[in-house]
Amino acid sequence: MSERQGGLLAIYPGSFDPITNGHLDLISRAARLFDRLIVAILRNESKQPLFSVEERMEMLREVVRDYPNVEVDSFHGLLVDYAAAKGATVIIRGIRAISDYEYELQMALMNRRLAPSIETVFLMAGEAYSFISSRLVTEVIGLGGDISGLVPPSVEVRLKNRVSGG
Ligand code: PNS
Repeated sequence: MSERQGGLLAIYPGSFDPITNGHLDLISRAARLFDRLIVAILRNESKQPLFSVEERMEMLREVVRDYPNVEVDSFHGLLVDYAAAKGATVIIRGIRAISDYEYELQMALMNRRLAPSIETVFLMAGEAYSFISSRLVTEVIGLGGDISGLVPPSVEVRLKNRVSGG
């Protein structure tokens, strides 16, 4: 649905391998700002993910159930092509710390060059989430550390199973 067809549509793209409470915080902020939000997982054949795209979509769908204007999808190829095909005018990205900024700025400017009518909007997750990343929670749980409160409970269960060989 495009702006003309009724409301602002934003895309929140990422790997979400797996979704953390930082991602979820961003989803809830974006869901308040835009009429519709699509959380879109990149299908990246060159990366060895912990969870398949289908598993990640399932986990995301479980945790966004309470947001009626949020959908979950996957895409491959250029993000701006996917966004344009969906009729989205906004790309959402999260910035945790200044260290995220350089990479995010590069992507935003490249995406703007490729598709000038699509705007990247950066949102800041709550400070309680500023140190969380999918990579770190996976590492910590793999080494027997406590990650409760850092990922949704359903994701914690799946992560425990996965790192213990499930
Ligand atoms: O969660 P991530 O891994 O930081 O997300 C990165 C993502 C998926 C947003 C980025 O890699 C992407 O958009 N890839 C799609 C290919 C593309 O459009 N590349 C040019 C971006 S400047």
